[in-house]
Amino acid sequence: MCGIVGYIGTKKACPILINGLLRLEYRGYDSAGISTIEDGYVSLMKNKGRVMNLYDLEGIDDLNGSIGIAHTRWATHGKPCKENSHPHMDNSNTFSVVHNGIIENYNELRDFLTKEGYSFRSQTDTEVIPNLIHYYINQDTQKDTMAFLRAVQKTCNAMQGSFAIEVISSLYPDNMIVVRKDSPLVIGKGKREFYICSDIPAILSFTRDFYLLNDYEYVLLSRDEAKFYDKELAPITKELKNIEWDASSADKDGFEDYMLKEIFEQPKSIRETIGAKLKSNEAIAFEDLSLSKDYLTSLHKIYIIACGTAMHAGLGTKALFEKFCHIPTEVDIASEFRYRDPLIDDKTLCIYISQSGETADTIAAVKLAKSKGAKTLAVSNVIGSSITREADYCIYTHAGPEIAVASTKAYTAQLVLLSLLALYMAEVLQENSNSEIENIKQELLLLPTKIEEILKNTKPVQDFAKKIYKESDMFFLGRGVDYAVALEGSLKLKEISYIHSEAYAAGELKHGPIALIENGVTVISMITNPDLAAKTISNIQEVITRGAKTMVVTNQELENKGFDFIYTIPKTHPMLSPVLSVVPLQLLSYYISKEKGLDVDKPRNLAKSVTVE
Ligand code: G6P
Repeated sequence: MCGIVGYIGTKKACPILINGLLRLEYRGYDSAGISTIEDGYVSLMKNKGRVMNLYDLEGIDDLNGSIGIAHTRWATHGKPCKENSHPHMDNSNTFSVVHNGIIENYNELRDFLTKEGYSFRSQTDTEVIPNLIHYYINQDTQKDTMAFLRAVQKTCNAMQGSFAIEVISSLYPDNMIVVRKDSPLVIGKGKREFYICSDIPAILSFTRDFYLLNDYEYVLLSRDEAKFYDKELAPITKELKNIEWDASSADKDGFEDYMLKEIFEQPKSIRETIGAKLKSNEAIAFEDLSLSKDYLTSLHKIYIIACGTAMHAGLGTKALFEKFCHIPTEVDIASEFRYRDPLIDDKTLCIYISQSGETADTIAAVKLAKSKGAKTLAVSNVIGSSITREADYCIYTHAGPEIAVASTKAYTAQLVLLSLLALYMAEVLQENSNSEIENIKQELLLLPTKIEEILKNTKPVQDFAKKIYKESDMFFLGRGVDYAVALEGSLKLKEISYIHSEAYAAGELKHGPIALIENGVTVISMITNPDLAAKTISNIQEVITRGAKTMVVTNQELENKGFDFIYTIPKTHPMLSPVLSVVPLQLLSYYISKEKGLDVDKPRNLAKSVTVE
């Protein structure tokens, strides 16, 4: 979704801004633009299309200003076109603004401003912001920087919805104001310079020291200083945080695409996610989480709530919570959960999974559970992200920045972290201090090496991709956790290859979908649980009889009963098998997308972080 970058310092802002925008491209966007403060005026350069196209705009090379704001837009209000791109300026071209989020009452604000004599050049909600700032500053008898801040504050108070904004003005040529509400924005600190961004990887090559903003915290920036204010504009102090990610972790590192790099990073991200939490012969311990036995005993229910791939990580681990904690566990889609008045109270623990920590529906679902008295626990990959500040408890995957839109390493890190969480809770509950838990703990430690083994054997997957990439329909089948992986495999394929695919619990095949099986359809099945293997094999026979091509991902020694391709993965505990069985599916989607010549990292219509409903 939309991305924000900003710079205030001693260097030329334009190249820094464009570099930042290029690093945000992966989030998905349709237009881009920048504004800088030049001698006596605010420049405005924007257009539909790629960030690189900004370099084609006349005059861009003449921008020398050292303060500027920049934006990639993913259209919500108004089609993608130059007029609707950000930045937006007020009627007098004095204030320039970039904005992420949605202003829900923008129609009323537009009507108000129209009555006050303002006119509009775009169809966006954002354009009300610079005009409101202009309106409020005209009402103020003072004209110092505090008046500028007051005008932005009054504007924010007038707006309903979500926003992260940057404002610059020719009236205040040495300042910038930024503020956020329900939309991410962080400030990176350099030497006599500040970098502002909606997403840390955009400015990781410049700094690793960040200020994380809470809702309605205003920042008045000059080259030398960041002054922070609360909602009432009382000064506050903020702590500088060092982010561990290094700049190279946001680069391709010799890989052709981010997605492939991230698939290959999985052994590392799992090792780092396990970290010190799990050591041989010791109880699992989370550095930042301590849930008491009394609290866990009081629980009647666990909800795991998330969107997309993160939701699939919930489905892949739900059984561990039920089996070892003996607490009924339900997995729900955040956008459904938040609107259906779920039965939750203080005896419910709500666990939220969000790689970015910024997904609008997931955050709203946290707020809902809190309002009903439930405790909330966030699983996120981004330190200081909105969800981690909203939830009561927070634990982190250590997958590093995930740039490819299609999630891979974040998913397997989520599976591992949730497995650790379930076993940790079981050990606190002491329901089952049994050998099976010990066995799973040992198996968790072996997962990175087993993924490395899979990654040494990618060629057969690539060859199979070459055979099937022209197809238009595929099915993914599995039972138990293999079904959870089928859902994820099918989503990966849709996202980056644009092939229609469906995932089914293998037992459901005969209840409808088998009608679609004919020559030319490929069916991909996972068989990792010996107790369920024979059943799934029978289902595969049924599709082979009807002409389907088949791929089987398994850790069993299967007799080849007419399968076109068997891919064998290392054995592990059946409840951990998703961490391994998903890897060939990620690779298959990747190679199919490459065969089709598609942009693997930036699939059409998709956004990495869905910050609007
Ligand atoms: C988008 C992304 C998915 C991701 C989902 C949830 O749809 O494209 O890869 O799984 O959002 O994102 P989150 O950041 O909350 O995990």
